[in-house]
Amino acid sequence: MDRSQGRTGGVFAGDSMAPATFTGNRALQIEEPLIFEMGQPGRCGVDLPEPPPRSSGVKDRLNGLRRNGEIGLPGLSEPQVVQHYTRLSQKNYAIDMGVYPLGSCTMKHNPRINEKVARLPGIGDLHPLQPVSTAQGALALIDALAHWLKTLTGMPAVAMSPAAGAHGEMCGMMAIAAALEARGERAVRKVVLAPESAHGTNPATAAALGFTVKPIPANAHGRVDLAALKAELGPDVAAIMLTNPNTCGLFENEIIEISKAVHAAGAYFYCDGANFNAIVGRVRPGDLGVDCMHINLHKTFSTPHGGGGPGAGPVVLSAALAPYAPYPWIVKNGDTWSVAEDGAKVDGQPLGRLKAFHGQMGMFTRALAYILSHGADGLKQASEDAVLSANYVMASLKDVMTPAFEGPCMHEALFDDSFLKDTGVSTLDFAKAMIDEGYHPMTMYFPLVVHGAMLIEPTESQAKEDLDLFIAALRSLAERAQSGTAAEDFKAAPRYAPRRRLDETLAARKPVLRWRPSNSLKQAAE
Ligand SMILES: Cc1ncc(COP(=O)(O)O)c(C=O)c1O
Repeated sequence: MDRSQGRTGGVFAGDSMAPATFTGNRALQIEEPLIFEMGQPGRCGVDLPEPPPRSSGVKDRLNGLRRNGEIGLPGLSEPQVVQHYTRLSQKNYAIDMGVYPLGSCTMKHNPRINEKVARLPGIGDLHPLQPVSTAQGALALIDALAHWLKTLTGMPAVAMSPAAGAHGEMCGMMAIAAALEARGERAVRKVVLAPESAHGTNPATAAALGFTVKPIPANAHGRVDLAALKAELGPDVAAIMLTNPNTCGLFENEIIEISKAVHAAGAYFYCDGANFNAIVGRVRPGDLGVDCMHINLHKTFSTPHGGGGPGAGPVVLSAALAPYAPYPWIVKNGDTWSVAEDGAKVDGQPLGRLKAFHGQMGMFTRALAYILSHGADGLKQASEDAVLSANYVMASLKDVMTPAFEGPCMHEALFDDSFLKDTGVSTLDFAKAMIDEGYHPMTMYFPLVVHGAMLIEPTESQAKEDLDLFIAALRSLAERAQSGTAAEDFKAAPRYAPRRRLDETLAARKPVLRWRPSNSLKQAAE
């Protein structure tokens, strides 16, 4: 089959005035069909033993569920598969390609030493069901990471099993609910306070647990309005969920007063630790009066986002909440490690399990490798460098773009869209034009408290000359937008990406999630 059959030549992005090529490709921009469209019946990249014929009388061990037709896998040779996936990988922007300024996500470098350690025999080959007596080193590793997390946060306990930040939020808020239950106050303390700038997962978690969420406004400096917070605190409040540094990239400088007021009202302080990467090694959340906080290992401790497998969002807990940490608990008796599973006797009232097994071993290993390879001083240096980079971006662009708030920022630089006023260019257009310049766009329209927000998190990973080029590219876009003559150009961006602007509403409302032979590419593109 001619592979070009799968191509959708007409929708290829780029300069429509350029002459067509024979293949439909544009240099290294190759229009890639789906692997199913490339496959040939009967072709196979590996040698497998012939299956026994269906009629051979082999005992049906599948209780009648044995497949009796072809499953329709695409047939390709090994080089075809390798080429296909390599071409696909080149369509994606990745942190291994360049500056990835997606604010709030902390797209920092994933050091290769982490990968090396995670693949060591004995770690890479672990199975969650193998006997605990054969996984003693793994339990010691989990405990060593737990020790670091407790030390860096100044908190006495940590629940290691949650699978991501949002799952950690669920864990922490369940611990708060359990503590309130034990105090006999779960029924009356129904309100969770969350700043207007909160990440959506905060109110979603609280609401999923049956709490009523009340927003707290931001003050003119992008921080929690303390007076408004105090006015909401009362005997019906269960907790505040607060991100620090907050989602505007600013340190909540009244944090001690906030935590004192929350505790005086009998409520708990949940800290969203997604931005811990800005303060690790410099500030211990435990010293600020935090009762629990999740740590996104993929942000602060450099584990891969998604691509490396499931995530990890351990939750550190204060002494008041430690007894409610979910199972499993890793316990040391003398020289031996054991895992306290559901129902085991421990010194507390665990929540039960939040997920299968003990947490994400691969992520634990990578995070510990990162911590040990940096050391305490290196971790501090990394957070300082992240803050320095963000301030460098902000200071370098503040004459052409509009910082959302006055003063220095922490690890991310937040701009609003006033610099685009009356230019006909929106935040979205600006972001799309960044793609043509070879950059993944920054986070847009978040946090909601800032009009047309552009949240840039350069992280500590980028060399100064790369940051300088990034800054120069943004400067040139801002100046072009402000020239008042480029709105149409911006609206047409991206021109050089494999796809231009998609119909995001259609994609969300009528997603084509599965290819069927009748789903021609043409239909999917319509
Ligand atoms: C401030 C904040 N809170 C919570 C989360 C949720 O974390 P996760 O994506 O690990 O579930 C994020 C993720 O970006 C975040 O930025």
